[in-house]
Amino acid sequence: MRVSKEQLHNLIKTKIHKAGLTEEHASGVADVLVHADARGVHSHGAMRVEYYAERIAKGGLNSKPEFKFEKTGPCTGIFHGDNAVGHVAAKLAMDEAIKMAKENGIAVVGVSRIGHSGALSYFVQQAADADLVGISVCQSDPMVVPFGGAEPYYGTNPIAFAAPGKDGKHITFDMATTVQAWGKILHARSKNEPIPETWAVDSNGESTTDPFKVNALLPISGPKGYGLMMMVDVLSGILLGLPFGNKVSSMYHDLTEYRNLGQLHIVINPEFFAGLAPFKEAIAETMQDLNNIKPASGYSQVYYPGQRSAEREEAYERDGIEIVDDIYEYLISDVIHNNAYDHKSPFAK
Ligand code: NAI
Repeated sequence: MRVSKEQLHNLIKTKIHKAGLTEEHASGVADVLVHADARGVHSHGAMRVEYYAERIAKGGLNSKPEFKFEKTGPCTGIFHGDNAVGHVAAKLAMDEAIKMAKENGIAVVGVSRIGHSGALSYFVQQAADADLVGISVCQSDPMVVPFGGAEPYYGTNPIAFAAPGKDGKHITFDMATTVQAWGKILHARSKNEPIPETWAVDSNGESTTDPFKVNALLPISGPKGYGLMMMVDVLSGILLGLPFGNKVSSMYHDLTEYRNLGQLHIVINPEFFAGLAPFKEAIAETMQDLNNIKPASGYSQVYYPGQRSAEREEAYERDGIEIVDDIYEYLISDVIHNNAYDHKSPFAK
């Protein structure tokens, strides 16, 4: 089923509002989810609406949060998210970081005690839209085996980066530190498709191609990905005094409980280094250089990070966004949720 960006935004906003968030916050969630679907990151788009709706309806996300931004230094601060939807809190925290970096050259802003915030590209692109470099990392629930381990400890702990080029084009790199994000497993489940054997392990620690048998994910590049997810947990969890490692709450354990997750935004102002104009010029040049690299056999061209997503966004703008039929049926229905997620995960303790 194909829908326009506006239709999808409206459907998501309506459902999330019906589940219990204010229209303003429901609209903020829809912004981030539509951003993900429009960029082809369906693992973090409309597919997540029912989970959020269930968590909101059951009280595991604060529908009347009191946000507070605590400036802790000239370039540092903590945005207290009061266990609101992460999408809205992380966006507002990035607004604060942008103001700070415009003034002081750099900003490091923690987003403390929030729910899941979705695709981090949304937040780093806020920075890039303001002619700044954005970096964002966040915790997610423990579902990844550390290198050499047989049980999960870290989350899929994503890292995102965006830098502005010219003509509104950015380089945007945004990845889970696992071979695949958990959402990709959910997407495979929703389509009833097998997954590659390199993504995940079953309850015996054996590689599996059945998305329904997945018990833990694998880090990218063995010990290196494991090291990166450790770094993310230190920066977005331990640094903010939040639960860390396997003490981070599970997404599916108890949907009535707040999750107390952490996220960290780092924003750098190129004006305070080599200057904005030469920075944007060089980013545009590096994008072009990458596109000019001779492709390896089997590849049509080299893309710069984020280029394919940006091209998808343009195509979806023209032709509508592809949404799985079941998800569309749910979105247009009167059902708030089907009690499908609470205590349903193989990772639930
Ligand atoms: P992915 O594997 O789809 O893409 C990773 C990166 O590789 C992207 O920057 C993409 O632009 C780049 N890329 C992919 N193919 C490319 C190509 N041919 N040429 C050049 N660059 C290419 O991303 P992944 O790891 O599946 O993550 C998906 C989303 O999940 C992200 O938005 C991430 O923030 C989100 N996520 C959120 C979590 C949370 O708790 N909030 C947890 C984990 C992931």
